[in-house]
Amino acid sequence: MDSVTIVDHPLVQHKLTLLRDKSRSTKVFRELFSEIGTLLCYEVTRDLPLEMIEVETPLAKMKSPILAGKKLVFAPIVRAGMGFLEGMLDLVPSARVAHIGLYRDPRTLVAVEYFFKAPDDMADRLALVLHPMLATGNSAVAAVDRLKEAGAKSVRIVCLLVTAQAVEKVRAHHPDVHIWTAAIDESINDQGYILPGLGDVGDRMYGTR
Ligand code: URA
Repeated sequence: MDSVTIVDHPLVQHKLTLLRDKSRSTKVFRELFSEIGTLLCYEVTRDLPLEMIEVETPLAKMKSPILAGKKLVFAPIVRAGMGFLEGMLDLVPSARVAHIGLYRDPRTLVAVEYFFKAPDDMADRLALVLHPMLATGNSAVAAVDRLKEAGAKSVRIVCLLVTAQAVEKVRAHHPDVHIWTAAIDESINDQGYILPGLGDVGDRMYGTR
């Protein structure tokens, strides 16, 4: 699957296993989620362009690299995407945030939008959709549609788990959008949950049912 990068870093894989365990407390689940958000952010921003600037150390002047070009916008799909947000903002505090409110119709699994708020300058920013569980692909496609409508020209999706069918759906609708994930799981069940997965992320993060 050309459109997917699997982040196989041992720390990510270790933390994913801890998250899968159903006995993990809400507090620790949230902490681990945020930590994985930081690690995935590191991977997804690996190819950002740099430019050289002059800097004066206490001892000498030198040329040194800083980030150049596009700024970032993190676009969490509420609720699960919020789990990555703080950990990613820890690494890139100057990033803007676009909130995308989507819920899945429980009968059809179709994504329904209830909230969208993004910065004005989307065209100048690299948009990272924070979507931990890419199960059917419906919400991801709707989120990318909406970001592009708002002006986004380059979009990436940051996931924790994906299914092959969801990746294929995103690729069919948005062939320009690359996906980063910690693992590809086997399938989804009738309610649209990833199997073996890790359950309902929003419920496990916020202690709801
Ligand atoms: N959303 C979740 O929280 N979990 C899944 O398995 C799929 C979608």
